[in-house]
Amino acid sequence: MQTRFQGKVALVTGAASGIGLAIAQRLASEGASVVAVDVQRDRVVECAEAIMATGGKALAVQADVTRREDIERYVKAATDAYGGIDCFFNNAGILGEVGPFIDCPDELFDRVMAVNVKAAWLGMKLVAPVMIRGGGGAIVNTASVAGLRASPGLLAYSVSKHAVVGMTRSAAVELAPHKVRVNAICPAPIDTPMGQLLGEGFNPDNPMAFRERMHARIPLARYGSAQEVAALAAFLCSADASYINGGLYTVDGGSTA
Ligand SMILES: NC(=O)c1ccc[n+]([C@@H]2O[C@H](COP(=O)([O-])OP(=O)(O)OC[C@H]3O[C@@H](n4cnc5c(N)ncnc54)[C@H](O)[C@@H]3O)[C@@H](O)[C@H]2O)c1
Repeated sequence: MQTRFQGKVALVTGAASGIGLAIAQRLASEGASVVAVDVQRDRVVECAEAIMATGGKALAVQADVTRREDIERYVKAATDAYGGIDCFFNNAGILGEVGPFIDCPDELFDRVMAVNVKAAWLGMKLVAPVMIRGGGGAIVNTASVAGLRASPGLLAYSVSKHAVVGMTRSAAVELAPHKVRVNAICPAPIDTPMGQLLGEGFNPDNPMAFRERMHARIPLARYGSAQEVAALAAFLCSADASYINGGLYTVDGGSTA
């Protein structure tokens, strides 16, 4: 068993599914006490129970990250249970709907901003003081390749992930004097429920056809797995990445190369 995170506390949002679930499992398998946060109560409880069943330490918190009081509650749950927060994987997100932006309802744009931007910002805002009090920490935000380049059909999502890139860079500089590092990961399509939604959104009659089109554009010719993203995020959270700050790291099979 690896022990990079022995004695460390890791907070993971979006831990009920996909990338967040893989990261919660990865960090726990390397010794972290994990606080798993998600709006899906049963599934986030399952995440924590599965970790505990393999001898790890975990706590589930059902929370809607768009609600300030829920963020305050998950931060308090972490500090009450484990005394601090060393790593924050700020990952909960939604895709919104696929389609031309001129048809996007105003409310949908606002919803994507609320989950992907404001909740991520507020999460950092409320977690960083705990890390500062504890002498430092590492924050990893989940952006996307959609935060680095055009994403026609996904304009609101793309705006939100460009914002995550901006908040990562600015927070990294502001928090560096406090020994809190902030980085972002930028995945291309990953094999998760959100990855499936992409295919269904772009080609409702034949989602597999969309996937095959994407494979043709990715040098490694496949979607990534949540575990491959988790490996990068775990590295960025770890002491192995002690001089890495304010960076954007693609995990995309070469698709932005
Ligand atoms: N899958 C991909 O292709 C891909 C690519 C690039 C970036 N991303 C990003 O990775 C992150 C994780 O996505 P995923 O692929 O694992 O998707 P997913 O849908 O499998 O998981 C997202 C999780 O976030 C949770 N969530 C959503 N809104 C929430 C809220 N208001 N409060 C609390 N939890 C909430 C969901 O319940 C779900 O468990 C997202 O930020 C996403 O934008 C995904």
